[in-house]
Amino acid sequence: MKNFLARYTPLQIIMHIGAWYPLARLIFDFVAGNLSPNFIQDLEVRTGRTAILLLVLSLACTPLNTMLGWRELLKRRRALGLYALLYATIHMMIFVELDYGLAWSLIVQTIVQKPRLIVGILAFLLMIPLGMTSFNIWKARLGKNWKRLHQLVYFIAPLAVLHYAWSKKGDLFALQGDIIKPLIYGIIVVLLLIFRIPPVRKFLASLRDRGLAALYHLRRRPKQDALKPVLKQ
Ligand code: HEM
Repeated sequence: MKNFLARYTPLQIIMHIGAWYPLARLIFDFVAGNLSPNFIQDLEVRTGRTAILLLVLSLACTPLNTMLGWRELLKRRRALGLYALLYATIHMMIFVELDYGLAWSLIVQTIVQKPRLIVGILAFLLMIPLGMTSFNIWKARLGKNWKRLHQLVYFIAPLAVLHYAWSKKGDLFALQGDIIKPLIYGIIVVLLLIFRIPPVRKFLASLRDRGLAALYHLRRRPKQDALKPVLKQ
């Protein structure tokens, strides 16, 4: 146990447990018959929501590191992104296999009729090269192009949010119906993307440094104040 705790950080343990839990719970609910009569939709909805949550969390790592100076977050980005891809793959497989029984002509017909699915597919297809090249060996091989390729995440996250919002009952474009959660995701994604713009990033880093400096002075002051009367004598 001691060895285990020395090898993994608390954040790493929370992340891995948190990422596997929705899948374990889904399988349990499926086997135990806890899903609704429309269980295929349940599976689609739950895997889709987990995929978008993990995707947004992976996108949040860099801005959070800028704001908090918590460098470990940068090391967790890859795993979060890969977990997002895992859930998106399961989500897509549920659609083609369980929902449509691999009836490809019907699948194509449905996709053509529902543009929200085209948006989801696009997001999924763009996630694949990112997942495949997320390993160090590819980082070294691709050099500068690796960073360029991974900037695709700036398109993927908004596409996934659009797919989410469009899948909800209501009118996305009139801001009516069940669109509060997708809207919150949308705002978070926009903010995360704004935080990555270099001048904004610099400003956030300077705020962090000023905050840390203020905290440092605050912690030292009591000691200095305690010395003052002694110095006066
Ligand atoms: C091949 C790609 C994809 C297909 C075929 C697909 C298909 C679907 C389907 C059939 C639904 C149910 C609602 C509806 O009929 O519109 C759905 C909902 C959803 N999908 Fe996807 N999707 C894909 C990619 C993605 C990706 C990449 C994400 C996120 C990273 C995602 C996240 C979601 C979410 C959050 C919902 C809504 C769940 C809710 O109703 O609360 N999907 N998708």
